[in-house]
Amino acid sequence: MAIRMMACTVCHGPQGRATQAGYFPRIAGKPAGYLFNQLVHFRDGRRHHAAMVDLVQHMSDAYLRDIAAHFAALDLPYAAAPPAGASAAVLVAGRHLVEQGDAARNLPPCTACHGPRMTGALPAIPGLVGLPRDYLLAQLGAWRHGERRAALPDCMAQVAQRLRPDEVEAVTLWLATQPTQGDMKPVPATALPQPLPMRCGDLGP
Ligand code: HEC
Ligand code: HEC
Repeated sequence: MAIRMMACTVCHGPQGRATQAGYFPRIAGKPAGYLFNQLVHFRDGRRHHAAMVDLVQHMSDAYLRDIAAHFAALDLPYAAAPPAGASAAVLVAGRHLVEQGDAARNLPPCTACHGPRMTGALPAIPGLVGLPRDYLLAQLGAWRHGERRAALPDCMAQVAQRLRPDEVEAVTLWLATQPTQGDMKPVPATALPQPLPMRCGDLGP
């Protein structure tokens, strides 16, 4: 599998360990269920990126599951996060929203689903740290405009639509500068509040 997956390293970095310098998302170590769902989303038209769509277009569910399992099993260190290029006030606002949300607007904390350290949760919630800021911005924008979709009910579309532009700025700036050292593995689903604050179709019924 590692040899067959060499084609992916051009963009996703050696072993899928793309760093935060650029646009490509790291895929190594993400939950297998999440990776599988994304490959299916590209194949079935819920996510759009020409190269990704071409690559997976003719792949079966079984093969996509093997690919997802391969990258999910890679436990490799992360590059250090880039320095924060934002004011303290913006970073405080970003952190507050990620950790507290805004109950008045029905906006749950991101950590309720993405894990207390935002390293993701099994089986299908990705981590939010170690990703390029441009990638985070693009994903939240794509959800807001219906260009990225997940299975219904699409909790992330609702989250993205509730965020104001200045909050998207602050949240992505804060996330992109969080430390990437220590245990970056996704937490078990039992480490999250039950039930989750919103329903997400990709996590099953
Ligand atoms: C030409 C560059 C390129 C190649 C080659 C490529 N990818 Fe991607 N991939 C991307 C880009 C860019 C994105 C983000 C697209 C977006 O903005 O939604 C992406 C996204 C993904 C995602 C979703 C990640 C996430 O966090 O949601 C997965 C999974 C993925 N690629 C797997 C693969 C696999 C497996 C291969 C090899 C079979 C591969 N990619 C080859 C460019 C590439
Ligand atoms: C109710 C649970 C829930 C909450 C709250 C939540 N998320 Fe998510 N998030 C998810 C799920 C589930 C996915 C995976 C969706 C999919 O399969 O496409 C996801 C995916 C993402 C992704 C895509 C990551 C990648 O690698 O492409 C980003 C970015 C993201 N969330 C940001 C946020 C931010 C920022 C917040 C807080 C403002 C937040 N999320 C709150 C459940 C949640």
